[in-house]
Amino acid sequence: MAVLIQGGRVVTSHDEFTGDVLCEDGRITRIASRIEMNACPTGTRLIHATGKYVFPGFIDPHVHVYLPFMGTYAKDTWETASRAALIGGTTTLIEMICPGKGDEPLQAYELWNSKAKGISLCDYSFHMGVTRFDELAEGQLREIVKRGIRSFKVFLAYKGALGVDDRELYHTLQLAKELGVIVTAHCENETLVSETQARLLAQGKLEPRWHEPSRPVRVEESGVRHLMAFAEMTGAKVYIVHTSCREGVLAAMEGAARGVDVQVETVIPYLTLDKTYAEKDGFEGAKYVMSPPIRAREHQAFLWDALRSGMVATVATDHAPFDFETQKVMGLPAQGGFVKIPNGIPSVEHRVDLLYTYGVTTGKISLQRFVEAASTAAARIFGLQRKGTIAVGADADVVVYDPSYRGRISAKTHHMATDYSAFEGWELKGRAETVLLRGEVVVEGGECKADKGYGKPVTRV
Ligand code: URP
Ligand code: ZN
Ligand code: ZN
Repeated sequence: MAVLIQGGRVVTSHDEFTGDVLCEDGRITRIASRIEMNACPTGTRLIHATGKYVFPGFIDPHVHVYLPFMGTYAKDTWETASRAALIGGTTTLIEMICPGKGDEPLQAYELWNSKAKGISLCDYSFHMGVTRFDELAEGQLREIVKRGIRSFKVFLAYKGALGVDDRELYHTLQLAKELGVIVTAHCENETLVSETQARLLAQGKLEPRWHEPSRPVRVEESGVRHLMAFAEMTGAKVYIVHTSCREGVLAAMEGAARGVDVQVETVIPYLTLDKTYAEKDGFEGAKYVMSPPIRAREHQAFLWDALRSGMVATVATDHAPFDFETQKVMGLPAQGGFVKIPNGIPSVEHRVDLLYTYGVTTGKISLQRFVEAASTAAARIFGLQRKGTIAVGADADVVVYDPSYRGRISAKTHHMATDYSAFEGWELKGRAETVLLRGEVVVEGGECKADKGYGKPVTRV
């Protein structure tokens, strides 16, 4: 079926104009200041977009859906996470495959694929987590790249669980360079984390508020500098995930100034929350425990500036959904304290609306930067050739966005599987009213219409 989106304000990362967009057979086939219905195929569906924005489908390049982590499993399934993503205007997710250290990469790749295939409502791809590097792993990583994966993920944190040692890091980067694959990296110095955690626990500092002091900005800065040195020595392309602070961004920029091919991601919690949330009374602060931690407010202002200037390339979520009542409580003081709180914040549903409401409507970023950071840059960096823009030949992934909508976030109404929202009660000034994915209307009036399994793995170059 063809769809004509008429009269909207079309916004891409580099352009903005009022016009019409025709979608046929899953692709965008015509863009013009006016396209008449009688010039379209019989049966074309008309969507009036006057007064609305027409954005490319948004891409979240850092989510966790299936995640065995810290003694539990993330709460969403691909069905719940992808439905929530679509309702929030995100049409493509890239998930981190996170094998245990003893697991075989190929088995993990197949396991993670099986969780999304035939289930996801939105399009998807994966970053292949490298948690071991030996002869067997190397051979299997080569095979995974042959099967179309174009990015690896390494953790310089989570000692003894997901983290790699320096030899593994070096060889992963070397292989990535050889294969033309980009390496995404969680940058924290794991020894500084584990030693600081032990010291705080020994002092009886067990509440969620101690999570941030256990991983201060120096820990993250040290991780980024470490990665920069290894990337410089191997020539690998790198992408720093969930950058939370000024020191992390600046350490990456120093690497870039030395010629390192590095991109920086931040995530929506760091742009909107600050560490006082994790300092809330009682155990409430556990809702805001993620790593790296949510920082002091001054870092938030710096991150918005860095996003505006382009030092920060992408805004993802690091969606990592754990229930408060049954999972975050694993880190109650009586259970061993903050080190046991499953790390992560659910936000895949509200990234786009939060970035629009608290970034665009406040004048912190332009509409073009918004589209670039939440869609186009991820498509470019991760080789999603037909995603991330509104152009003839691109996939017809289109969001008709209503800037006059007013609403509030609540766990009672959200579509993620978690029992809480870190943004409970927050006002939203805009929403994805209609969403097209490969030319099909998957969201209408803010409601999901997609069938389970409609999502497809994305071909990457
Ligand atoms: O706290 C976080 N970020 N949880 C998810 C796992 C990770 O490190 O990305
Ligand atoms: Zn991480
Ligand atoms: Zn993550």
